[in-house]
Amino acid sequence: MTNMQGNILIQGASRGIGLAMVEQLLESPDVELVIATSRDPEGSDALTELRGRANGRLVLVPMDVTDDGSIARCAETVRGHTDSLDGVINTAGILHDAERGLGPEKRIEQLDPGALEASFRVNAFGPMLMGKHFFALLRHKRPAFFASLSARVGSIEDNHLGGWYSYRASKAAQNQFTRTFAVEAARRARSLRVLALHPGTTDTDLSAPFQRNVPEGKLFSTAFVAERLLDVIANTDVSDSGSFLDWDHQSIPW
Ligand SMILES: NC(=O)c1ccc[n+]([C@@H]2O[C@H](COP(=O)([O-])OP(=O)(O)OC[C@H]3O[C@@H](n4cnc5c(N)ncnc54)[C@H](OP(=O)(O)O)[C@@H]3O)[C@@H](O)[C@H]2O)c1
Repeated sequence: MTNMQGNILIQGASRGIGLAMVEQLLESPDVELVIATSRDPEGSDALTELRGRANGRLVLVPMDVTDDGSIARCAETVRGHTDSLDGVINTAGILHDAERGLGPEKRIEQLDPGALEASFRVNAFGPMLMGKHFFALLRHKRPAFFASLSARVGSIEDNHLGGWYSYRASKAAQNQFTRTFAVEAARRARSLRVLALHPGTTDTDLSAPFQRNVPEGKLFSTAFVAERLLDVIANTDVSDSGSFLDWDHQSIPW
């Protein structure tokens, strides 16, 4: 069980790691309110079932992270429930575009402007615009966090294999945003820590087409990863703001 507390918003909660985080936060007695968002949270049977058992502690709010107006409307709805948040976790991310039959690029000739733009809009612009609209709700005297799920492959220093251009580059942009936001938070919101997290390879829709080569024991369940990442967040403080940490609390080079 996580030792999180207060009011927490999970962006990208309809499935995958975000959904498992919602489940675990609801099990924690010190968490008062969980706000779960995705493009269509009412369309997620898992979320509506959880809400039915949550005694008013789970609120579902639609939000498309590629749409600035949608994020603004979500923040306004959140203000109708609470005047401050203790944490925001961005989980939404895309690696392949199944609808358009596009996978991550292996060769430079495969770069497609539409796929590049889609990756940047979700993986990079999403957390940035979340920061813009949720900063005011996180800026208070209690300790608070803004955490984004990044990926080790977004590390520039750690890139020895190449490929996956749009995913790597959009996560690297997200990482630069995390550092930049952490610097501003240190000046303007001294109790707010800003973190980038790597979950490890996790059994979700996102990783499904790429699980064949994952070594035995290295494909994590969403429950395991959610528990580990919530624990990592809970065991950080403002002195860790601006860090890139993996599920095992190990630092990753930017
Ligand atoms: N799984 C892995 O092995 C792995 C490894 C390294 C890093 N990561 C990172 O971890 C994060 C979570 O991955 P996951 O595997 O849990 O992904 P997932 O199962 O594919 O879930 C993605 C979530 O993001 C939401 N989402 C997608 N596009 C969105 C948009 N435009 N607006 C709002 N929400 C949107 C989805 O909701 P709807 O589609 O319902 O809106 C869904 O809730 C991602 O950032 C990913 O890059 C994952």
